[in-house]
Amino acid sequence: MVVVEGVYSMEGHICRLPEIAKIAEDYSAFSVLDDAHGFGVLGRQGRGTVDHFGLNEKVDVICGSLSKSLASTGGFVAGTRDVIEYLRSHSKQTIFSAALSPSQAATAMAALEIMQTEPEHHERLWSNTRKYRAILKNLGLDTWESETPAVPIVLGSKERVYPSGRPCSKRVCSPCCRSPRRCRRARISSAPPSRRCTPTNSLNASPTRWRTR
Ligand SMILES: Cc1ncc(COP(=O)(O)O)c(C=O)c1O
Repeated sequence: MVVVEGVYSMEGHICRLPEIAKIAEDYSAFSVLDDAHGFGVLGRQGRGTVDHFGLNEKVDVICGSLSKSLASTGGFVAGTRDVIEYLRSHSKQTIFSAALSPSQAATAMAALEIMQTEPEHHERLWSNTRKYRAILKNLGLDTWESETPAVPIVLGSKERVYPSGRPCSKRVCSPCCRSPRRCRRARISSAPPSRRCTPTNSLNASPTRWRTR
């Protein structure tokens, strides 16, 4: 089985799906794409990483989060009817978990409807992203060649990360880093104005990050 992320959330890089899908095909491997950060961002109307590459028929399962571009909580797994039926009856994570609440489902469905019918938000996301990256570039900051709205600012040391968060906290983002030992990067994601920034922390990935939810 080949499991890959569509967009790497701490780097903003897009996975090399054409090459990866080809490897999966060559080895007759089942392919799974976690598109938590690609859905709502890449492809037509934000349909995600497979659509961005035109590889809709090449990936067996696409999973994603409802907590990012769909402004809810929970997640989804998309695949053929047989695969979904198999997961329904065999996946312990599904069998022993409570279902989405009606309000979570309704929020995600409303957001999906907006995604499909109001393309201006998707366009604004990308125009904001381009503006934001240009500002950072003009400031001489290293954004690690991010290709998406997830933009790392590589500062190089935790001593530089902490002061960089202070001006941010006075506006829409608050810095939050409970594990200061290995922080090297700040990440701020651009988003349409309707979405507020909330602080998050990544202990396993080590950098301080501010991201939208
Ligand atoms: C690649 C990836 N998959 C899944 C998740 C889980 O998302 P959620 O916040 O909905 O649990 C995340 C969280 O950021 C993620 O980065």
